[in-house]
Amino acid sequence: MRTNQPQTIYLNEYQVPAYLVDHVDLRFELFEDGARVHSTMTVRKNPESSQADAPLELNGDSLKLESVTLDGSQLAGDAYEEQGDKLVVHTVPAQFELNVVTWIEPQNNTRLEGLYKSSGMFCTQCEAEGFRCITYYPDRPDVMAVFRTRVEADKADYPILLSNGNPIEQGELEGGRHFVTWEDPFPKPAYLFALVAGDLVEKKDTFTTCSGRSIDLRMYVEPRNSAKCDFAMDALKRSMRWDEEVYGREYDLDIFMIVAVDDFNMGAMENKGLNIFNSSCVLASQETATDASFQRIEAIVAHEYFHNWSGNRVTCRDWFQLSLKEGFTVFRDAQFSADMGSPTVKRIEDATLLRTAQFAEDAGPMAHPVRPASYMEISNFYTLTIYEKGAEVVRMIHNLLGDELFRKGSDLYFERHDGQAVTTDDFVRAMEDASGRDLSQFRLWYEQAGTPVVTVSDEYDKQSGVYRLNIRQSIPDTPGQSGKKPQHIPFALGLLDQTGQPLPLNLTADEQNGPEERVLELTDAEHSFEFYGLSDRPVPSLLRNFSAPVRVQYPWTREQLLFLMSHDPDGFNRWDAGQRLAVDVIQSLMEASGDAEIDSRLVEAYRSLLNDTSLDQALVAKMLLLPSEAYLVELADQADVPAIHEARERVLTHLATSLREELVACYRRSLAQGDYQLTPDAIAHRSLRNTALAWLLHIKDVEGLAFALDQYQTADNMTDRLGALRALVNSDFVDEREKTLADFYDQFRDDPQVVEMWFSVQAASHQAGQLPQIKALLQHSAFDWKNPNKVRSVIGAFAGQNLAGFHKADGSGYQFLADQVCRLDDSNPQIAARLISPLTRWKKYAPQYGQQMKAALEHVRNKNELSRDVYEVVLKSLA
Ligand code: PHE
Ligand code: ZN
Repeated sequence: MRTNQPQTIYLNEYQVPAYLVDHVDLRFELFEDGARVHSTMTVRKNPESSQADAPLELNGDSLKLESVTLDGSQLAGDAYEEQGDKLVVHTVPAQFELNVVTWIEPQNNTRLEGLYKSSGMFCTQCEAEGFRCITYYPDRPDVMAVFRTRVEADKADYPILLSNGNPIEQGELEGGRHFVTWEDPFPKPAYLFALVAGDLVEKKDTFTTCSGRSIDLRMYVEPRNSAKCDFAMDALKRSMRWDEEVYGREYDLDIFMIVAVDDFNMGAMENKGLNIFNSSCVLASQETATDASFQRIEAIVAHEYFHNWSGNRVTCRDWFQLSLKEGFTVFRDAQFSADMGSPTVKRIEDATLLRTAQFAEDAGPMAHPVRPASYMEISNFYTLTIYEKGAEVVRMIHNLLGDELFRKGSDLYFERHDGQAVTTDDFVRAMEDASGRDLSQFRLWYEQAGTPVVTVSDEYDKQSGVYRLNIRQSIPDTPGQSGKKPQHIPFALGLLDQTGQPLPLNLTADEQNGPEERVLELTDAEHSFEFYGLSDRPVPSLLRNFSAPVRVQYPWTREQLLFLMSHDPDGFNRWDAGQRLAVDVIQSLMEASGDAEIDSRLVEAYRSLLNDTSLDQALVAKMLLLPSEAYLVELADQADVPAIHEARERVLTHLATSLREELVACYRRSLAQGDYQLTPDAIAHRSLRNTALAWLLHIKDVEGLAFALDQYQTADNMTDRLGALRALVNSDFVDEREKTLADFYDQFRDDPQVVEMWFSVQAASHQAGQLPQIKALLQHSAFDWKNPNKVRSVIGAFAGQNLAGFHKADGSGYQFLADQVCRLDDSNPQIAARLISPLTRWKKYAPQYGQQMKAALEHVRNKNELSRDVYEVVLKSLA
């Protein structure tokens, strides 16, 4: 229970800052028992503010104030006041210099916001509101200043001293200390500030920009990680080139630095010129990283780099605009990944994440628009809605405008707003101005929460050859929002004839050679579209390439789905048809009696996928994966997890048993694919091989076991080694599983990233991850409550991925999670608030589960001194 209730902050109460800061001079004295921060700000009244005689208010959090000096004279005690999280200076001139000295304790900072220590080094995390944990400051993104930072520390322990911008001075100090001064010429909000001090190895490279400037590229990592930098460095260079070619964006400083830290709340941070990464999102080698990690690293390196323009040069006016930088930057990194690998596979992965997790968020108690209207704790709004749905919204603009006009729009946006802190509305306006298109209705995507449902029905008239599609849209109510207006939805589709050939889409009787694909623009609650000149009833291919983040409902028959699975020219929709078919089969098993038969057509469809080597193997690898339990939960009204789990397992068993020979052949074939490479094709073969292995072990096949043990022993890369381990862990070959787990740990115990995989493979498995085993993992010597990655890899993987282990009829999984959240809330509220999310969806589950989930939430609510982070989530979930 909280005693003082946190305030809600509203977008419509936004006011421009009363004071602006032009320049900040920082001096950090770093010691083992704390740090002294000297800040000198050049401040002036904001001419645009109506608050004429407002006092100066600076934000602060967990600071010990040592002195305040205004224009050179120390302020008397009654001239200023520390009010909780603020420093208020009552009267100030129109322009002045303010010096503030604070003392902080990075070594005791377990929240990992502000300045903290991670395996012996000092580092910072300031987004969104971490800078106020360093010094008193107007900590809001619309206050942009030029920063100069001098870092002082012991030279032997902290030979490397970094901050934003370019190094301008360095030297020796008394007592074995030294300093480096950095200056960042680009005005920036405090959330982009960064500092690092440590004993790190430096990796050097260079990049020549399109205008011929040579940029120094640097990676700083702990010595033991020295061999895990090459991939990220290359990814960085690819990103720099790509942003020049595709968006015309050149890098601006003379140096670009990346630092890896083990303790980090999120994936990475785009601090100006000094990106800080969670080790797991940047360090990789063939022996220690899976294909999935390589792809994630490439995407995140690109994402943070792209922020230099979409986020840093043009930043957010306030935190309600978070998706301005995140949605746009996720869209940019997705385009980049698509260009680097397989576009269809990338689209499938993004749509899967969206449909599984973002749709669930949009249907849950924390649902919010891409541009939220209110929040209590901004850290809770780094969500799939802001990031992924926000990216989909930008993608739709891209699709509506086309490549060229979109580029014109982004050029205009960057040019018009360079150096400014702006809104999502400014972004849309630039797109409108450059293209001449009216996006006023489209703006509803930013304002209305909830996933639109698009319901399609069709009629065909043989006589006239007219096929008619009736399309309705509706947007469900979400907390605080009801009676929503229709949105502007780009709906891509095609029609196929009975042989699978694409048909021309003629929208009038006169049209003859219409295009084979059209993007219909849905703007009303109901539309009907007629297609002319069709001599037979066509098969519709709807929402191609997932052209909008909506749920499509259409009464597909299994014949149609099978047909689309093998004929749709749109790769995404082929995959989607397979998913829909598998969902249908699993769902009908759940509705039928225990031993109902499994539709043999599903088996045959999978058989042709496995046999037809002429197909794109990357797509096949994706198509073979059954819909996840989490997705099945999302599709259910009142989810019964054990029933979902059982039905899905039954289908898997049936498929694996019926296709055993094909799986063995597929496994052997994929093994013969030659040396390790990181190409889409090689990745596809590893994925196929590991799926085949998992299925064979699922049915306890002894030949499969031999494959797995051999693959585990002889693998020359982590994808194969972990693939074999995972298959064993998810099987009930208990002895082999335990032996291999022990061997794996022995081999990789010194590599935190691999140990994290080792934890999560177990925690996510319904075989090896039952509650007693999870509790044992928490006792393991490699587990560390202070390290977010470890917490996520055990507790997060258990509650988020091991649904059968978590959702137990006795509620033990829920109570366990509630207890861990309470424990973490004291040390790291951001992590605690993220971890609790599986419980917040309690209304989604069958009552015997939902009620116990709710009880677990109430247990958390009753904890003493709940953080604002967890309080907001719990309060909204129980509302
Ligand atoms: N802005 C970071 C990104 O998306 C994410 C982040 C948010 C990191 C808050 C740390 C804290 O790239
Ligand atoms: Zn980002």
